[in-house]
Amino acid sequence: MSRTVYINGSYLPEEDAKVSIFDRGFLMADAIYEVTAVIDGKMIEFDGHLERMRRSLRELDIAYDPNKEEMLAIHRELIARNHLVHGGVYIQITRGNPGDRDFLYAEGESIPPTIVLFTQERPDPRHSKLDKGWAVMTMEDLRWKRRDIKTVQLLYPSIAKTTAKRLGFDDTWMIEDGTITEGTSNNAYIIKDGVIITRHLSNDILHGITRASLLKYAQSRQMKIEERPFTLDEALAAEEAFVTSASTYVMPVVSIDGQDIGTGKPGEHTLALRQMYIEESVKVAI
Ligand code: PDD
Repeated sequence: MSRTVYINGSYLPEEDAKVSIFDRGFLMADAIYEVTAVIDGKMIEFDGHLERMRRSLRELDIAYDPNKEEMLAIHRELIARNHLVHGGVYIQITRGNPGDRDFLYAEGESIPPTIVLFTQERPDPRHSKLDKGWAVMTMEDLRWKRRDIKTVQLLYPSIAKTTAKRLGFDDTWMIEDGTITEGTSNNAYIIKDGVIITRHLSNDILHGITRASLLKYAQSRQMKIEERPFTLDEALAAEEAFVTSASTYVMPVVSIDGQDIGTGKPGEHTLALRQMYIEESVKVAI
């Protein structure tokens, strides 16, 4: 069935929503995006995603400051119109359509941004079968150096994810200068001697909204956390591994490059963290 999507102030059937071929999002990947999870028709971490969206826009000097009430209303309207129960809302904001192709863009100038939103359904994460977890492979991280900005330049992560699928894996962990940066669209973690280890925040990785809350919840339960880079060898010797994102929540990683992590099954800390994250975030969903 056709979804209702949002484009520049209008709610339209998806087949009627059109963007110009001169839009800089299309020609230059000059656009940012967010994905907000929905459980029971309510949004998880709406404020966090909005704040990161504002930051991405600022970092790219896109002259648009989203209004919280307006954004909340659009997200809610799309959830309602599409009867979305579990899944996510995708929003993309581009620098707009200057009317021609040009490498130059006018900084802070007032061509209107292009704003599109649509919903995607996914199963209820509380009933997901996780007994297999994810088998990940590794590839060199060949993305640009501002991975902290959530841009739509997703070609390399798409190639990495497709390569993984083609070779029988579920995802790819990317490696730079000997350490793991992150997964194709998720943050990466290992657990060693009961300590959660995940790369510290910098321009090397996206500052995951799920990551921030998960670490906060874990800390409040006295779990130890080390935010630092870790190597592939460390990961292979870990007791558990997992990834986080708005689409996977907390997903166990059971093997890397064909080598089992721990028992080769989803780890008990990982499963407890997943349950804790989903329970806590559903409590404060809006
Ligand atoms: N991806 N790292 C990368 C490179 C990502 O693309 C994502 C999110 C994350 C996790 O961020 P968060 O916890 O805020 O979702 C980390 C989204 C889900 C996507 O591209 O669909």
